[in-house]
Amino acid sequence: MRLAGGRLVEKTSNPYIITPLTGAVGFYGRDDIFRFVHNVLASPYQNVIVLYGQRRIGKTSLLHQLITPRHVPPGFQPVYFDLQGRAEQRLSQVLYGLAREIARRLGFPPPRREEFGDDGEYFQTRFLPQVFDRLGQRRLLLLVDEFDVIGGEPWTREAAVETLFPYLQDLIMDEHRLAFVFVVGRRIDELPSRIKATFKSAQFKRLSLLARDDAIQLITEQAKDLLEYEPPAVERILSLTAGHPYFTQLICYELFDRCQRRGNSRVSAVDVDAALEGAMELGMGGLAWFWDEFPPAERFILSAVAHVTDEGGVASQEQISRILQQHGVRLQGIELANAPDILVEWEIIRREGRENYRFVVEFLRQWIVRKHSLEGAKRELESASPRAIHLYEAARRAHREGDLSAAIEDYRRALAANPNHARAQLGLAQALYERGELAEAITEFEKAHMLDEASARDGLITARLALGKELEEERRDEEAVVQYERLLALA
Ligand SMILES: Nc1ncnc2c1ncn2[C@@H]1O[C@H](COP(=O)(O)OP(=O)(O)O)[C@@H](O)[C@H]1O
Ligand SMILES: [Mg+2]
Repeated sequence: MRLAGGRLVEKTSNPYIITPLTGAVGFYGRDDIFRFVHNVLASPYQNVIVLYGQRRIGKTSLLHQLITPRHVPPGFQPVYFDLQGRAEQRLSQVLYGLAREIARRLGFPPPRREEFGDDGEYFQTRFLPQVFDRLGQRRLLLLVDEFDVIGGEPWTREAAVETLFPYLQDLIMDEHRLAFVFVVGRRIDELPSRIKATFKSAQFKRLSLLARDDAIQLITEQAKDLLEYEPPAVERILSLTAGHPYFTQLICYELFDRCQRRGNSRVSAVDVDAALEGAMELGMGGLAWFWDEFPPAERFILSAVAHVTDEGGVASQEQISRILQQHGVRLQGIELANAPDILVEWEIIRREGRENYRFVVEFLRQWIVRKHSLEGAKRELESASPRAIHLYEAARRAHREGDLSAAIEDYRRALAANPNHARAQLGLAQALYERGELAEAITEFEKAHMLDEASARDGLITARLALGKELEEERRDEEAVVQYERLLALA
């Protein structure tokens, strides 16, 4: 495969990789992380490392590197073990899976499932000693990839999400020939306490964006005999991805395909922009997954920042407040107020000066603008508080059964838990109207109208009409006229 006069001479497979990297090919940078891991593990008193960072930043890929000869910490036998899909398994099953993986790496015969119990006894007192015997002077290094759950689900007490980390905590205390590297895609202080406890003696390190030179290598090296990047093209990719490895691979993957389709091998900045739409399609699954893991409050803020960002890429605090106001979204009560700080901490957005926010990855901003309207993100705010959802359902039940007082009370409590629950707001207005409290109903219909115009409009009109009539009957004509005028404004 060669370049011939700027044209690709034959079809070849795409050298960019958009699935987790399991080998050394396609992996760039992270020297600081490897040094950190090696340094920590060089001490006999340190046996737990936690690497954390946002989704798709390269945690799984990094764990796989620690098995390659180049990066194995000296004196260790590494074994990679993935907890994905295992949240609901019993402890015995997870330990059996782990033992099988260890046996496979060490060339042992596979262990027998029935030996492993939920007390973890067999694993610790029978299986591990055999492993240590075989390893001689070397220690066992378990590279543990995360559970793929967001939490909040009602797990049974036997589920591995509940039992595994407390078990490992004891193991860490007892077994000095065992060391761990865990990866975590959540904020450490959001982790359930049973997991945090396991990490209390750990050394932490964040996986962040790739350094500029490493990102340039990623772009240019992987396809070095196949594509020639004009310098502005490289700069354009960097300005879109800020060195985020996944988004960089995604854009380059699409660029490569595009060049191959068109039979050229020189990449210009114009080509990069032309490839964005395709890259977004290509990354649909990964991007959706990325989005879904944010709680609704964070999604709304992301969406707000993405939509109000100006050409300079900056969204001011004031613009964000204005958009919240326009949409009738209220900050108190739910996590919305903290969401910008959390997103900054996650390196999704960055604070500039005290008043401005900017997306770290411009590509992500453009994707959000295209795929996630503010209206959509606003609807999702209803689910920001599980307590509010619960109370809203209770209110609906009471409302259906005709118990207006109970309904009103529960709607109010739902709104206290989440003032952005549009349907609770509408329900409250409706119930007040049914109880004949017109003025109050109108106030609440107005709030509902701010949150969701379409669904509250008819109710608001009906209530104003009724109040107007009532005032007329009481011969308070001027006040009635005010109501009718406001009515006209809605039409
Ligand atoms: N160091 C790296 N060099 C090149 N590409 C990388 C690197 N780290 C991650 N990637 C790319 O990013 C994608 C996501 O990485 P992954 O390891 O699955 O992230 P995480 O486990 O943090 O969600 C990979 O599929 C790969 O395309
Ligand atoms: Mg991963």
